[in-house]
Amino acid sequence: MAKPSFSCSACGASFTKWSGRCEGCGEWNTISQDAGLSVGPAKTSLGAKRGRAVTLTDLASDETPPPRACSGIDELDRVLGGGLVPASAILVGGDPGIGKSTLLLQAAAAFARKGLKTLYVSGEEASAQVRMRARRLGLADAPVQLAAETNLRDILTTLEAEKPGLVIIDSIQTMWADNVDSAPGSVSQVRASAHELTTFAKRTGVSVIMVGHVTKDGQIAGPRVVEHMVDTVLYFEGERGHQFRILRSVKNRFGAADEIGVFEMTGAGLAEVTNPSALFLSERGTPSPGSVVFAGIEGTRPVLVELQALVAPSPHSQPRRTVVGWDGGRLAMILAVLEARCGIPFAGLDVYLNVAGGLKISEPAADLAVAAALLSAREDQALPADTVVFGEISLSGALRPASQTENRLKEAQKLGFTSAIAPAGGKTAVGTDIALKRPSDLVGFVGEFFGAG
Ligand code: TYD
Ligand code: MG
Repeated sequence: MAKPSFSCSACGASFTKWSGRCEGCGEWNTISQDAGLSVGPAKTSLGAKRGRAVTLTDLASDETPPPRACSGIDELDRVLGGGLVPASAILVGGDPGIGKSTLLLQAAAAFARKGLKTLYVSGEEASAQVRMRARRLGLADAPVQLAAETNLRDILTTLEAEKPGLVIIDSIQTMWADNVDSAPGSVSQVRASAHELTTFAKRTGVSVIMVGHVTKDGQIAGPRVVEHMVDTVLYFEGERGHQFRILRSVKNRFGAADEIGVFEMTGAGLAEVTNPSALFLSERGTPSPGSVVFAGIEGTRPVLVELQALVAPSPHSQPRRTVVGWDGGRLAMILAVLEARCGIPFAGLDVYLNVAGGLKISEPAADLAVAAALLSAREDQALPADTVVFGEISLSGALRPASQTENRLKEAQKLGFTSAIAPAGGKTAVGTDIALKRPSDLVGFVGEFFGAG
């Protein structure tokens, strides 16, 4: 007999015995015994009883894979890896109010118009509200079937009967499975509902898209617990004050991870942005100290973004280091390398770094652009206009070439840039007229562009 397990409905921590207070999050009366999943591990050991032999197949097969369904919204199809794969389970996470329901309603309408039978199940809004939004977005004529329901058993029964090609569940936090004894939105409910929906997708060939809210302060009851169950995890992100929204694939069994789709929130819903570089640079004025254009790669696509740095004397004993859109630890590393290898101290100075447009970048190739922005801000000296920067900095102060140099340069040229600073050693770009400056280490870079430092 398997031992009973217990978990906290607030934070999801699991325990072998019951207690009144969760050691994980400190909440009282949140621990309860886990109910078994309807399709899941057996409660008793398998014992000696023989099972059924599983049919094995070869890797090679003549069967053509089922075709992917395309919505015609290119930014979405590309992030999915080239369209929707039948029988796949997809999680779309994001902050509340960022536009997930808007995006998925538009996607539902687009898929339905392409002939895929699509069901939109809203657990948050009444059907009338969804219909009203659809009308406002000009989608009222799309053949999407609506339901406002939160009971998972009823939803699965409906799906068995309707046999749609795609079902959208908005959101997974409002669903409840009646075999699980905790409130909707709790970790055990979210996990159980996602598990049931994912197994249903695999068994019947229906694609399931689940919406999951994440909270800024943590992942409590957030979609993190279902990330490993689904095939594809997309995050819909953006700054609330900006109109840009970025759909990013962080996991994709059927395509490239880190692919992004860029949208703009307008009065009539989300509009595709087919040339994101132009958009991210559109707010850029005359080149000023602290501003540097980074030629990055997001997924399979080059994207140019502006990095902005501000360096000012700090009134605090512990100077501030504030980063938006990049990794704080990586900033600390760049500052340390500048200090140790080039003798440029940042002690006593507040440092702010911002990626313009609300984009989040994670590429190490942004190192050199960050260093350039920091130095430019510190020395109050603008880099030459029409210059893009990219390259990785190692702890020794050496510069490493970035991948896809050619694609980055082509994109820069397309947007009217005429020169680039990139480490030597990378493949020389063919087919671009961009003047390349190739420092081999950080000291050389500082010397060439900021005097001796
Ligand atoms: P919504 O899709 O409801 O967010 P989520 O499902 O992620 O919680 O989007 C809510 C926001 O989007 C709301 O603040 C208003 C804005 N919005 C527009 O600006 N234009 C539109 O056409 C729509 C439908 C929403
Ligand atoms: Mg919503």
